[in-house]
This record gives sequence, structure tokens and C-alpha cells, in this order.
Amino acid sequence: MSRTVQLATLARLPARRAMASSARGLATEVHRETAAPEPPMMRKQRAEGDIGSVFASLSGEAEQPHPARFADLKRHIAGDEANRARLVSSFRTLTSRLAAAASEIERLGTDAVPTVSYESLLARDPATVAAIKRSGTAVVQGVVPRTEAETWLQQVEAYVAANPQVRGFPADDKQVFEIYWSKPQLAARAHPRSLAAQRALLSLFSLPQSAEVSLTTISYADRLRIRHPGDSKFALGPHMDGGSVERWEDPAYRAVYARILEGRWENYDAYELEARAKANQNLYDGAGACGVFRAFQGWTSLSDTGPGEGTLRVYPLLREMTAYTLLRPLFREKAPRAAVSREHYLAPENWELDIDSTAFPQAPLGRSQEFNDASHPHLELDRTMVSIPRVRPGDQAWWHADVIHAVESIHRGAGPSAVMYIPAVPLTHLNAQYLRDQRACFEARCPPPDFPGGEGESSFTGTGTPSDIQGTDGRRAMGFEAFPVTSDMRRGEQAVRRAANDVLGL
Ligand SMILES: [Fe+2]
Repeated sequence: MSRTVQLATLARLPARRAMASSARGLATEVHRETAAPEPPMMRKQRAEGDIGSVFASLSGEAEQPHPARFADLKRHIAGDEANRARLVSSFRTLTSRLAAAASEIERLGTDAVPTVSYESLLARDPATVAAIKRSGTAVVQGVVPRTEAETWLQQVEAYVAANPQVRGFPADDKQVFEIYWSKPQLAARAHPRSLAAQRALLSLFSLPQSAEVSLTTISYADRLRIRHPGDSKFALGPHMDGGSVERWEDPAYRAVYARILEGRWENYDAYELEARAKANQNLYDGAGACGVFRAFQGWTSLSDTGPGEGTLRVYPLLREMTAYTLLRPLFREKAPRAAVSREHYLAPENWELDIDSTAFPQAPLGRSQEFNDASHPHLELDRTMVSIPRVRPGDQAWWHADVIHAVESIHRGAGPSAVMYIPAVPLTHLNAQYLRDQRACFEARCPPPDFPGGEGESSFTGTGTPSDIQGTDGRRAMGFEAFPVTSDMRRGEQAVRRAANDVLGL
């Protein structure tokens, strides 16, 4: 690891933390800090906290009106008369499609989410691929051997027991832990079958020759949860990761959804990767912001958990939900819900283009995009948010970056509902910068850049270190080994690998 990054890490730490570091033999670096050049790019550490600060609804914040410029943004997006007419017509076809989809999803329930085998995913079985792409979500069975995953849960529990000062949500009954660097997490992130599943998921995306994105996977250090039976506090409502208003406000992010915003949602392809790789998902330095582009968010199950046992819920039709999310702020109701029947309220005739107001429903600045029945009525979330099928230890749940997801409000099961959050993250220029900063945090045993800051695990016992990461692929995914560049690779692939190696000092 380069000195610049090491120094930069220490520069980000509070004084107490730096003293603790010097006590571990890094006094020289601290001393030289004043003479060091400004680090190339180092994020400031976030405030201490837990997952409760990420969601406006969990932190009890009321929805605030957006600044006036958001009305201009709507007019800009709505475009000329022809585009506006297409938007109106496409909103009509979309809402009637959503009504049919709600009945279809309600009938299927949990089966609306495909369960596929690790082998069929790796073989890119056409039916498997089609099912995952359509729904945007999947349970992949048997990624990690069951006994290994069960051992990881025991190790996590022992780590928590050895470090009772660990932060977590909710504070009085910790279940979502501010733990990133435990040895079982390092093992899970570097597991060869897990890395292979991630690469297979990334391969569902298409890229032009020149796109400077690699479908190799890199590790994103995230939390873990061990939800207790009976819990009703970790009730994350329906939301989308990857920012909120950024989807409209950032021109690069908006470009991902160009087809939808041109009034042609049926032609929207959620699996084109080039534009997404350039999107800025974090314009407001939000507590919920993600510093990398995660093509799929996912977790690895450490427990046997079925529907009703505190598991994940999703809206299981990717294209439709994305189109509605993007179009929703451009429309408003005519008659309010209380004044008319449900049918009348949802009917296309009751909705008109809204390019005057600043309303972006449930998309607060610096927070996650959230959804509820009032803000996004045509999704009929009370009928369409389905629990994913039963998972066993070593199975993984995956959901596309734009999937609306939630956690069951009550855990009615008898055992822990335990997962490690491990997404599928391609190598991009922005992601390489994050990887460099994340590596620095790992070496300092502080929380990764995206997460609430503080001392993290620096004073914990039994924390993992870089030498605990097994295998070249696992080490490379964490930024400790260079990405090889060969002549048979796409031009863009070669370019981004070289750039990443530079950023990482490898
Ligand atoms: Fe989420």
C-alpha cells in the first residue's frame, strides 16, 4: 500500500483514533502527516451512526419540499411538446400494465421471484437468465456450502460477543451491526464460488467495445444483520438504493433512463452498463449514499429463513417498476384519493403532466428513494411487494440496482434471520477510487467510506487483516493485487484495468 493512502487514512481519523494508531507503531506516519502532500482523492469520514440515519422514514423526518430548481429540472426532462405527448401516452400504457402486473404478482406471490441453482447461473442457462432479468431479483441456491455458512454465523456471533461495544441498530437490541472487517466477512467476500456468482450476474449486462468498465468483480464491504425472532424494529420500508433525486438530476444518471424519459419505457433495457458506470448517485453527500455502482445488491444467507421470518421483500418486475419510478414525479393526481374511488383515483384520466411543481415524491436530498402507497399508488405495494422464497445457509439473494426492496416488518420465525450484505460490483473508474479508499479504511480498521464513521473496529479483538484474505481473486477484489491486462480483452476493459491499477498504486 502506498504511503499517500496510508497518510490519508490517518489524516481522516479523529485525534483519538490517530493516537491509537501511533500506539500500534504508526507514529512515524502521524508525525509526517503535516509534510505530506494533499492526498489525490480522499473522502471525508461520515458522522458516527447506524443504518437508522440512512432512511428518512427510519429517522422520523418529515418530507421536505424540494428547492425551486427542481421544477426547472422537470420542465427540462419533459422536453418539447412531442416528448410531453409521448410521456402522457406512455404513462397511460404503463399504469394499465401495472394494474395487470399487480394481479399477476399477487397470484404468484413468492413464486414471482425466481429461485435458481448456482450451476444454472454459472452456465448462463437461458431460462435462468431470462427469469432473473425480468424480475430483477433471484435466490441463487447453494453458492456456498451450508456448513461453511453456518460456521460463519457462529464466528460472527463470537466476534460480537467478544466486542460488546459494537454499534448496531436498534441500539437497545442490536441486530444490524456496524461490523465490516470480521474474519467471516472477509472469507465470505473472497469465497471463490461467491466471486463466480458475482461475475455471472455481472455478465447479464451488455457493454460496447469501448466502454471503460470491467465485469470482473470487486469487493464492497458492507454490514451484516442477525435479526432476532419477534423483531419489528428493523422494518425497512420499500426503497431503492443508489441515491434518490440523483436519478433525474445528474445528467449521466438520467441518461441510463433515456428511453423511459422519452416516453418509450417498453424499449428500456435495464442491463446496459456503460451509462450507469458514469452516474453520480451521490450529489448531496447523503448518509444513505453509495460510493460505488453496485450492479446487483445482494446478501449471503447464514440462516434458514423463509417468508414471514424477517426476510427481503421486492417488487418483482424490473422494467415496469423502474419506468414508474422515473415517470412518477412528472405526473400528479387531479382528484385526491379521499374524494374518489380507488379505481377512479388510479385511472389514467385522473393523472396529468406536472412540470410546475417541485415534487419528487419520497426522493429527499441526501436520503434513499422511498416508496409508499400514497407516493407511488400505481405500484399497489400492498399487493405487489412479495417476500423472496426460502433461503438456506449459503444461498444468496440478489436484486438489481433499481429494484424496490424492503425488509419484512415482523420476524415471525423461530431462529435468527442472518445475512451478510455482499453485492456484485463491476470495476469502473469511480469504483476503483472507492476501492482504494476502502482498502485504506480496512487497514485502519475503521468503517468503509460509505458508512457511518468513527473508530469502527479499531479497538476490537479478533478483527480480520489483509493477510486473512484467501486467494488471488479475493485479494484482487479488495485492491491488494493488480488487475491483469491481456491483449484479448476489449479495449475499454484494458483501459479501466490499467487505470484501476494506477489508482491502487499496483
Ligand atoms: Fe437497500
